[in-house]
Amino acid sequence: MAIMLKSAAEIEKMRVSGIALRKVHDAVKANVRAGATTMDLERAAVAKIEELGAVAAFKGYHGYPAVLCTSVNNEVIHGIPHDRGALREGDIVSVDCGVIVDGYYSDCAVTYPVGKLSPSVAKLLKVTEASLYAAIDKAVVGGRLFDISNAVQTMCEAEGYGVVREFVGHGIGKNMHEDPQVPNFGDAGKGPRLKAGMVLAIEPMINAGSPEVKVLEDGWTAITVDGSFSAHFEHTVAITKDGPVILTR
Ligand code: MF3
Ligand code: CO
Repeated sequence: MAIMLKSAAEIEKMRVSGIALRKVHDAVKANVRAGATTMDLERAAVAKIEELGAVAAFKGYHGYPAVLCTSVNNEVIHGIPHDRGALREGDIVSVDCGVIVDGYYSDCAVTYPVGKLSPSVAKLLKVTEASLYAAIDKAVVGGRLFDISNAVQTMCEAEGYGVVREFVGHGIGKNMHEDPQVPNFGDAGKGPRLKAGMVLAIEPMINAGSPEVKVLEDGWTAITVDGSFSAHFEHTVAITKDGPVILTR
């Protein structure tokens, strides 16, 4: 599949989708606390999506059972919300959500602290988020796709973190997953030339330890093989002649 370029009008629609998604994330964030379950977060998201008249992008996608992915501590991505045990002080929870508004997708993830974190875990969140913004800075006309990838890899590996290989970012538009794949590792100066109208979901998934992950028997939840904590930040970003535009801010 070729990389599909979006018109200015389409990017406007994706901005509307992204604004709705931001409201969903804000509603979830307000519920992140010790004692809450990830199902509490799911319920907050379901209610907000309905209030906004948006459509949840993840639910039913390849049979995925929820509107959120909620991945706690050593869970990397695709954790399924549940009521089996509450978040505790010092935990981290990665919340990933996508919505569809007027036919256009947006996709965004944030890793939240639950109360006060140990300094090492706080640093993992800070560096992973900073790597997302470093990557977004490379989403410019005339650059190359792997400039984005390399920005994440360079910043995170400098801290000794493991960059997950098995899961990558992606193009997004009328579909949640479009070409190109956007890895979080690669050689700067390589990959497809970046053009105005490309819209990318850029999403570093970074482990405090080894990059290796495995998927649990539920068929979804990816965890770190070494048990280290993992962080995930994602924005939907349009490449325009005026620079990168974060649609999920
Ligand atoms: N944000 C995820 C991605 O980019 C989507 C979650 S997969 C789903 O692939 F099945 F949960 F929807
Ligand atoms: Co995504």
